[in-house]
Amino acid sequence: MKPSSAVPRASRSHHGGAAASAVRERLALDPAGIEAARSDLHDGAVTPHFGPWREEIIGLLNDALATQWICAMRYRRHHFTATGLGAAAIAGAFLVHADAEARHADQLARRIVELGGEPDLNPDTLSQRSHASYSPVRELQAMLRANLIAERVTIEACSQMVALIGSKDPTTRCLLESILAQEQRHARALADWLVPA
Ligand SMILES: [Fe+2]
Repeated sequence: MKPSSAVPRASRSHHGGAAASAVRERLALDPAGIEAARSDLHDGAVTPHFGPWREEIIGLLNDALATQWICAMRYRRHHFTATGLGAAAIAGAFLVHADAEARHADQLARRIVELGGEPDLNPDTLSQRSHASYSPVRELQAMLRANLIAERVTIEACSQMVALIGSKDPTTRCLLESILAQEQRHARALADWLVPA
């Protein structure tokens, strides 16, 4: 029998160089990280996989937390002050959105604590740290426009956070993706009500 070469069988196939190098790459866990996970129990769910990113992820989540509370307050203000034709249905939607943003805020606060951080709910700095504005406007279409702008800003910030976090923290990324999907539904609903300028 002819002796086999040292080159892996897949590398000798005719699928091309890129495919061959993909086959050669091995998926191997980091045993040092696994070993470190056995100790450092005071870190709770935070294992060495987080590397240097934990603090920055907590910072991003705290800014998102501030954004969600500002959005919840803006929607509540608009819910109670909306008047005019079609205001009842739209005001009802504002309250539904307000409650959704408050739930998002709680999810973010819970995740910040899981990561070993502290949720920053300091009312003196909430609006400065929020990506979106409070916008205490009085007219119904202005409310819809302000809320749609806020949703679009939140969608963009959330999308950027998902991209930044990537595989560094899959649990946080999944949470942000679920919030992102709901913010996109909010934006679509607002856009349907908005009268073109
Ligand atoms: Fe929203």
